[in-house]
Amino acid sequence: MRTDLTSWVNLTSLAKEMKNKHISDLFNQDNDRFSNHSVQLEGLLFDYSKNLIDDRVFTELVQLIEQTEVCNWRNKMFSGEKINATENRAVLHTALRNRDASPLYVDGQDITAVVKQELSNIKEYVEQVRAGDITGSTGKAFTDVVNIGVGGSNLGPQLVTGALKSFSDNVLKVHYVSNVDGVQISETLEQLNYETTLFIVSSKTFTTVETLTNATTASTWLTKQSGAKQSIAEHFVAVSASKSNAVNFGIKPELIFNMWDWVGGRFSLWSAIGLPIVLYLGYEQFCQLLEGAHEMDLHFKNAEPENNIPMLMAAISVWNTTFLGAMAHVILPYDECLNMLPDYLQQAEMESNGKSVNWLGNVINYPTVPLIWGGTGINGQHAFYQFLHQSNQVIPADFIGSLTNKSGLENHHNTLVANMIAQAQGLMTGFDEAQVREQLSRKGLNAKDIERITPHKIHGGNRPSNMLLLDAVTPHSLGQLIALYEHKIFVQGVILGIYSFDQWGVELGKGLAQDIQNDIDKDSVTAHHDSSTRSLLAYYINHPLSKSNKVIQSANRV
Ligand code: F6P
Repeated sequence: MRTDLTSWVNLTSLAKEMKNKHISDLFNQDNDRFSNHSVQLEGLLFDYSKNLIDDRVFTELVQLIEQTEVCNWRNKMFSGEKINATENRAVLHTALRNRDASPLYVDGQDITAVVKQELSNIKEYVEQVRAGDITGSTGKAFTDVVNIGVGGSNLGPQLVTGALKSFSDNVLKVHYVSNVDGVQISETLEQLNYETTLFIVSSKTFTTVETLTNATTASTWLTKQSGAKQSIAEHFVAVSASKSNAVNFGIKPELIFNMWDWVGGRFSLWSAIGLPIVLYLGYEQFCQLLEGAHEMDLHFKNAEPENNIPMLMAAISVWNTTFLGAMAHVILPYDECLNMLPDYLQQAEMESNGKSVNWLGNVINYPTVPLIWGGTGINGQHAFYQFLHQSNQVIPADFIGSLTNKSGLENHHNTLVANMIAQAQGLMTGFDEAQVREQLSRKGLNAKDIERITPHKIHGGNRPSNMLLLDAVTPHSLGQLIALYEHKIFVQGVILGIYSFDQWGVELGKGLAQDIQNDIDKDSVTAHHDSSTRSLLAYYINHPLSKSNKVIQSANRV
């Protein structure tokens, strides 16, 4: 049992003691705290010194990594063991970027060769599309790519193409349709010329209702626009682990790119799910992304726990959540191009570790992954930083920024970086009563007003944060950053004793939705729902507005 480990027992006791300490005190006790609690890699600085971690806690966290056999589980993952036990699958998103690897066999198949072949297929296809050698049904080169997918079949590519706009030659524009709300696909389609539009239907299972609904609407639109049913074959490709489902949809077999069961959806942007990335940036830039991720893989494989950034980030998160009781963790990119990172990490972290049963099937009685949320730092300072600074909840933060950015506007970047560093400092130091009184007195307030206002201006501080500083956001560094979080998530799952690579919790909602949709489609309410669901259904089905919605829908069918 995790809770019986000596490190776990010691950390539990240390947590009680540390809760009465302040991070500022740890800096006062060690002038060299930053250099003792930061790791510098090529192009990436990780500063974790603003955490409530003294030498004893650090020692026990490293012990926790050792005693939960993180390195052993890491080696199992890289070697293709089926560590995704409930689905009996290997976990090998790392193999997608390890292109020079030796053969690696899964169920008798050398997946290194499989990956290499798929990358070659992607390269050949993308180069032909970008060169205009592959065209739409009327012979025109493609100008727009629409990726239809959701979750891991959307967030990774959208994060990467959004972050790397400045690296694109804009031969192709990319659009993303993920929400089944018809507004998203309608607004996307109305700006497109069917002749020059390529649709990618990305779905590992090719059964996701939202994706298939959007793909069907897109194909209907195409047929209507082109007046030719067969144009689907020339304007649609697919990425899936289920080739048969994609063929049944009407996509040419040779235009179905593969993904595999040993790649989780939320870890799949390195596979053909990354097709929008390759089309938008070109194959060479995509390879840079893979190289960066591979470099982080090597760091994760080779660095000792004390200097292993994914292991340290995971252990710190477990310390903050499971031992110190923080129930959320905020992601604060101070680089506009990383504005999708919180959304991406929500799925990556919470779909992986948002669980409460351990490897043995026992209910876990300690907090597992925190709620992951966030937003770009500067905007957050004018939205939710009041909460971060003065609410009675301590929310650990990851600040992520870069030394340079593409704007070339140095004064802007200096202000951006100044705010990022200042906010991390302020969350840690706070602003105590004596400082508030002194400030109010300097402002000339009278004694009565000082008494009245002071309690409202005190900042308790002692709010922990990590700082990740990239030299710049490039395909290579973004690959490093994303792989870093992938490995952090994996290590967190090992430490907590939970399976990080299944997602049974998404099935219930899907099943219930299908059930309820059947009622809506039949305009009837079956009795087996609870009174709330039954009443809501009746309210929707019988309301004149929803009936008019149906009238609009049939009239406006694209
Ligand atoms: O959110 C549930 C989920 O299964 C994710 O794990 C996955 O990334 C997403 O739905 C899309 O699944 P698919 O790629 O099979 O359409």
